[in-house]
Amino acid sequence: MRECYFVVDGGVPLSGVISVGGAKNAVLVELCSLLLFPGRHCLHNVPKLADVTALIELFEELGCSCCWLENGTSLTVDTTQSCLRPLSASVLQSFRASILLLGPLLARFGMAEISYPGGCPIGARPIDFHLKAFERMGAIVEVHGDLLRVIAKKGLHAARLVFEYPSVGATENVLLAAVLTRGTTTIVNAALEPEVLDLIQLLRSMGAVIDLNVPATISVTGALPLRAVEHTVLPDRLEAGTYLAAAAMTGGQIEISNIDPELLDVFLMKLDEMGHTVTLPASGGVVLTGTLSARAVSFITMPYPGFPTDLQAIMSALQICSVGTSKIHESVFENRLVHLGEFQKMGATLSVAGDRTCITGVDRSLLRGAALHGVDIRGAAGLVIAALGVADRSSITGIQHLRRGYDRFEERLQYLGARIQLVEQD
Ligand code: EPZ
Repeated sequence: MRECYFVVDGGVPLSGVISVGGAKNAVLVELCSLLLFPGRHCLHNVPKLADVTALIELFEELGCSCCWLENGTSLTVDTTQSCLRPLSASVLQSFRASILLLGPLLARFGMAEISYPGGCPIGARPIDFHLKAFERMGAIVEVHGDLLRVIAKKGLHAARLVFEYPSVGATENVLLAAVLTRGTTTIVNAALEPEVLDLIQLLRSMGAVIDLNVPATISVTGALPLRAVEHTVLPDRLEAGTYLAAAAMTGGQIEISNIDPELLDVFLMKLDEMGHTVTLPASGGVVLTGTLSARAVSFITMPYPGFPTDLQAIMSALQICSVGTSKIHESVFENRLVHLGEFQKMGATLSVAGDRTCITGVDRSLLRGAALHGVDIRGAAGLVIAALGVADRSSITGIQHLRRGYDRFEERLQYLGARIQLVEQD
């Protein structure tokens, strides 16, 4: 098995203009939504990510055919022949979004059989909200070891569902099932992340009637006539935030040309508080001009529009060489601070207590390169950001995690001037 890792020689200010790909956390659920209507669909701005490849493999097992178009980012998805078939447990368990097959398969075929999903090891990541919601809609859930069988022989019925936490996946799973369920299904305390709203846009173009109300309520009028869709996936705010952080960490200047800055409000506010310069060109996008004498900031991760948990590791990297003390509370996932131990290998000064950390920034000349190991998508990206800011050599393993969430990651960074190389060895 070839071991791949990055070698990073940091300390170089990054600069240039790039665009980001389609959002991972939108494209995966949007692919699943195409099972709701058997037809020839087309998605544009689809990133070539490991999770997209895995989902396409599952789609082909379900009798669908997926074909990349010449431009390399458009994907035709023909679900005309889609039917219920056993799915590869190993593929289902290789990522979290496979759980989003449950809603459409259950609603369309009256039953679904999948194994518990995998995904980043950032917490227990239960799926009780998903299963309880489907039971409230009339389904019966049977658990046989890792295998989940959910049955709705008479079909699902509409319901008023209240989530104790605005779960992104549970909101999306129920949303998909509700589109095929007669009556009005309401989700109270729903997740309203930009990726959920992009999914709603796709479903509306498919013919679904979906209303948004306060407080955080989504209502779906289901079982209406549907049609095939063509949809462009929204740009990835998490990818954009990662590259903006690279500019901040290296004191460079980077422009992300195709991102709506309002999707990154709190993240950009925190970069500004650190003393970095955020500029919003009239043509759109965001320009970040970094400073090497940044001030530390504190933050708590929250559901959108709060500080995104998926940018916590990346923002934490910036704190290790900022002036002052940063208090970070990771309130969304109970085990998402593993990357901090890797920062300590570089000389970072920090303490961790449960889901909170206190980082005391040190002068970056006191930090050193190290052999770093990533275990999840955003944690691995955070390690690269840290390595880019230190004028020394670091190696970063765990690249397979990063490939699940970032397309052409090192190519984009190399284009911006980073000295990062992919090393493959047997
Ligand atoms: C989605 O995960 C994203 N993944 C995650 O991105 C993201 O971090 C997360 O939303 C929060 O924004 C995809 O969209 C594929 P949740 P999801 O359900 O749906 C608890 C990345 O790096 N919970 O909103 O799994 C859960 O344990 C990935 O791109 C239950 O208790 O997140 C967590 O503490 C990582 N029971 C909290 O809710 C449930 O049934 C939020 O989870 C479901 C969730």
